[in-house]
Amino acid sequence: MRNGIFITGTDTGVGKTVVAGTLAYAFRRRKIDFGYIKPLETGIVDNDYLHRESDAALVKQAGALPEPLTKIVPYTFREALAPLLAARRQGIIISRDKLLNSIRKLIKPSRITIIEGAGGLLAPLCENYLVLNLIKELNFPTLVVCRTGLGSVNHTLLTLERLRREEIKPLGIIANHLSPEPGIAETTFISQLAEFDQVPILGELPYADNFQAEPATLDKLASHIDFKTLLRQIHS
Ligand SMILES: Nc1ncnc2c1ncn2[C@@H]1O[C@H](COP(=O)(O)OP(=O)(O)OP(=O)(O)O)[C@@H](O)[C@H]1O
Ligand SMILES: [Mg+2]
Repeated sequence: MRNGIFITGTDTGVGKTVVAGTLAYAFRRRKIDFGYIKPLETGIVDNDYLHRESDAALVKQAGALPEPLTKIVPYTFREALAPLLAARRQGIIISRDKLLNSIRKLIKPSRITIIEGAGGLLAPLCENYLVLNLIKELNFPTLVVCRTGLGSVNHTLLTLERLRREEIKPLGIIANHLSPEPGIAETTFISQLAEFDQVPILGELPYADNFQAEPATLDKLASHIDFKTLLRQIHS
């Protein structure tokens, strides 16, 4: 198992970047050496957008990463689509070898490398290659970020089952509250999931109104993550 965390999710928009930013912030505060890679990011309309709005920029800011964005996100595409489709529509074909090479160049074994996937576990990354295939090849401990609302038990169990079918042991899950007004589905999510799966629950992040990667917000979110178990699980 590698010294890192692959962050996948039950879907796009579930909070993978918010979790990556929170981990980055907390690792920096704890003086834990780490890096972050977003191998492919879509919806990057121009350079200005990349520096202001991207996942890579958010995590770079949260973790005060010194690397330039080009060393964090090797591939960007204009349209906000799955990477395979966004690349094809720009006339670009990325092979599995090319993608793996560009990621491996950025991994330093001495530090915890956080890698954020794109979309959910079975999102197409490049030719004949899903997020799941990348996780399997990199052999990274895998963290699943999920929502907490209606349907989330189903999405989370499906994601965990698919990982295990590939003999990838999930590191744990982080449940993320995306609604300002949690109802019964949201507040019972963890207990419902725990009835059907023994996966470690590494955190339950509260809704952060108008989320910004600022210290006060990141501190609050980080206080809901079980870092002791997370770090133990990575290195076990
Ligand atoms: N705990 C939270 N409280 C409030 N808003 C949140 C929270 N987590 C995420 N969000 C918001 O939800 C949106 C999606 O989150 P995020 O970008 O982290 O998802 P993602 O899984 O990384 O998406 P993608 O698949 O596009 O990479 C963002 O606008 C983010 O600010
Ligand atoms: Mg993201």
